[in-house]
Amino acid sequence: MADLSVTLGPLRLKNPVLTASGTFGYGREYEDFVNLNRLGGIITKSITRDPRAGNPPPRITEVPGGMLNSIGLANVGMEAFVREKLPYLRNLETQIIVNVAGNSVEEYEAVVSRLDREKGIHAFELNLSCPNVKEGGLTFGKSPEAVFKIVERVRLHTNRPLIVKLTPNVTAIGDLAQAAVDGGADILSAINTVMGMAVDVSARKSVLGKMTGGFSGPALKSIALAKVFEVVRRVSVPVIGIGGIFSAEDVLEFLLVGASAVQIGTANFVDPAISEKVVNDLEIYCEKQGIEDLEEIIGKLDVDGAGGDGNKNRL
Ligand code: SIN
Repeated sequence: MADLSVTLGPLRLKNPVLTASGTFGYGREYEDFVNLNRLGGIITKSITRDPRAGNPPPRITEVPGGMLNSIGLANVGMEAFVREKLPYLRNLETQIIVNVAGNSVEEYEAVVSRLDREKGIHAFELNLSCPNVKEGGLTFGKSPEAVFKIVERVRLHTNRPLIVKLTPNVTAIGDLAQAAVDGGADILSAINTVMGMAVDVSARKSVLGKMTGGFSGPALKSIALAKVFEVVRRVSVPVIGIGGIFSAEDVLEFLLVGASAVQIGTANFVDPAISEKVVNDLEIYCEKQGIEDLEEIIGKLDVDGAGGDGNKNRL
């Protein structure tokens, strides 16, 4: 059996398949569909200091090539998370990564310092990229100076691996990546959703209750691959690729480009069992190709000229 494990600085995963924040609840919601222990890790919904009800509905709509969401970081808040969700998660045999969000630098610090007292959390992922809230999220995430400041401040509260999730809604994602690393990030994840909108012509209204939302799904993959490519060339910390991943082949594309692991997001809504299927398919791929260690292919994209054929050699 091939070794699918990957090492991302201080974080070791049994395989590179993580589930993306906001698409997998608090993990337990998927236990009837997925053997959660087969996954490389689970990333929770964004956790804030206080419970949040989120944005007014409609908060989700399907669009060509994917979907839009404007959830507004609805979650149970950090104390209920510790009381009601973490006991289940910490009994799983997979890495538990808590995604953290806030309205202010102080809120990010408060959540990380509170959760850092708890056992069973293997890493934090800072959501500096939510496009659906007025304060926090993207307000911080678009500015390299703000990214640096928030990461530097949060870093003081934990020695656990710190992942920073980057937005693609900027001209130069490399500058954000550099700022996050300078602030103390161990790992980066890219990309969060692209800002989008859907219009109901007969009602002359936006389909979403909050006008705009975050676009995700298969059509995001090409954009995400290019952004990950840009980030891995700019910084030397490990990068987790996110965006339109629905299959083992999609995972391999991100690994070749230089990502050390991936997150599966929107695909969980299409097929709740997909994350485990992708792990199984990666195993089959390695066996067929005689790959003993999946890490061998990370960053092995042949960049000396073009020439691949997108339709040949499908898995
Ligand atoms: C949301 O809760 O609105 C989505 C979170 C995100 O895109 O970061």
